Amino acid sequence: MRISVWLAPVADVDAPCAVVIDVLRATTTLTVALGNGARSVIPTRTPAEALALRDRSRDTLACGERDGRMVAGFDLGNSPFEYTRERVAGKTLAFASTNGSLALLAARGARRRIPAAFVNARAVVERIRAEREVAIVCAGKLGGFSLEDAACAGLLIARLEAHGAIDADPAARFVRALAPADPAEVRAVVEGAAHARDLMSMGEAYRRDVEFCATLDAVDQAWDLAASSAAP
Ligand code: MLT
Repeated sequence: MRISVWLAPVADVDAPCAVVIDVLRATTTLTVALGNGARSVIPTRTPAEALALRDRSRDTLACGERDGRMVAGFDLGNSPFEYTRERVAGKTLAFASTNGSLALLAARGARRRIPAAFVNARAVVERIRAEREVAIVCAGKLGGFSLEDAACAGLLIARLEAHGAIDADPAARFVRALAPADPAEVRAVVEGAAHARDLMSMGEAYRRDVEFCATLDAVDQAWDLAASSAAP
């Protein structure tokens, strides 16, 4: 398998299969939302675009955040705990988050687009292990590097090695060295991240989000957003 890694969504990704990572919190949240029956996800660059999509269809919800908080007029913020089956089953999510949405948009050319995080790492590996070429896109933070996304990419590569030879580009080799060895290291990487500290300073609900985002393999599903209605 040939693997290339983008440490931030700096350009459009040209690969048959793209794995998009925003551990804190977008791809963790979208994995939960799809597991609770959300029909599809439309990433948007701006909140205004998400609101416009919502206003055009009553089966669409405006979702996401700015500065970690739900945008005024939105239906949902960016906490995985908000995306319950009652709220999202059968709905399309017009999703505007600061970094995660940009990473999903950078991967829009890929035939398969799979949101990944620590919560569904094992399921993602199962889903992509037969691929010949994979691009892993880290959301990062405002176009820069984020350790938790890079470490998650490294963990996926470490686990994929069990399924065959990996032809890794330099960034893939770099993140491979960051792969956490066990659930305790995952928790240390996530809870020690700059963005985690920002979120945790915003209150108990955000602390709970961070704790969940640091839970390895808590969700046994990986979804392909490129499928019209996200298919498990
Ligand atoms: C993002 O997409 O930038 C993050 O998911 C923001 C957040 O944690 O709400």
